Amino acid sequence: VRTRIRRARVDDLPALLDLLDELQERATPGVPWKRGDAVWTATVWEEVLSDPRRVYLVAEEDDRLVGTADLVLLPNLTHGARPIAFVDNVVVTTDRRGAGVGRALMDDIMRRAETEGCYKVQLLSANGRSRAHAFYEGLGFEASSRGYRRYLIRDAGR
Ligand SMILES: CC(C)(COP(=O)(O)OP(=O)(O)OC[C@H]1O[C@@H](n2cnc3c(N)ncnc32)[C@H](O)[C@@H]1OP(=O)(O)O)[C@@H](O)C(=O)NCCC(=O)NCCS
Repeated sequence: VRTRIRRARVDDLPALLDLLDELQERATPGVPWKRGDAVWTATVWEEVLSDPRRVYLVAEEDDRLVGTADLVLLPNLTHGARPIAFVDNVVVTTDRRGAGVGRALMDDIMRRAETEGCYKVQLLSANGRSRAHAFYEGLGFEASSRGYRRYLIRDAGR
C-alpha cells in the first residue's frame, strides 16, 4: 500500500478530526478533551489553511487518512534570523502504526524545515508517551530540553 504525504485540504476536516480524536487516549487527566463547536472549528480550519507559515500535513492511503502532523514556521531573530519549525499533533491511526507512516510524515517535515532555512525542528511529547519518545529518538531527536506547560483550561472550569 502506497502512503502519500500531502498538505491537508479544506474537505479533509471530518476525517482529520476523527484522526485527532485518537490522541485522546492519552490526553492529560483533568484537561477537557472535546471537539470545538462545528461552525467555529470550520472557521479555524480555514484560517489554518490560509496561513502561509502553517503546513498541515496528512498521510493518505487509498483515499483514507491514516496520519497527520502540523508544522508551524516561526520567524525568529536569533541564529542568523533563521525560523524555528514547531511540530504538533502528530498521530498515526491505530491499525497503521509501526508501518513507517509517522516516519514519512516527519521526513516530509524535515525537508520542508530545511528548505525554509529553519535552524531547528522542535516539539513536545507528554511524559507518558514512551512509544512516541522512542519514535522521535529513532528519527534523531534528542530529549535535550525540559518542556514546560501551564494549562489554561480545566474540567472544573467548563
Ligand atoms: C508515535 C507515532 C506517531 C509513530 O508513528 P508510526 O507510524 O507508528 O511510526 P513509524 O512506523 O514511522 O516508525 C518510525 C521509526 O520510529 C521508531 N519507533 C516507532 N515506534 C517505536 C517503538 N514502539 N519503539 C521503538 N522505536 C519505535 C523506529 O525507529 C521506527 O524506525 P523503523 O522504521 O526503522 O522501524 C504513532 O505511534 C502514534 O500515532 N502514536 C499515538 C499518538 C502519539 O503518541 N503521537 C505523538 C504525540 S507527541
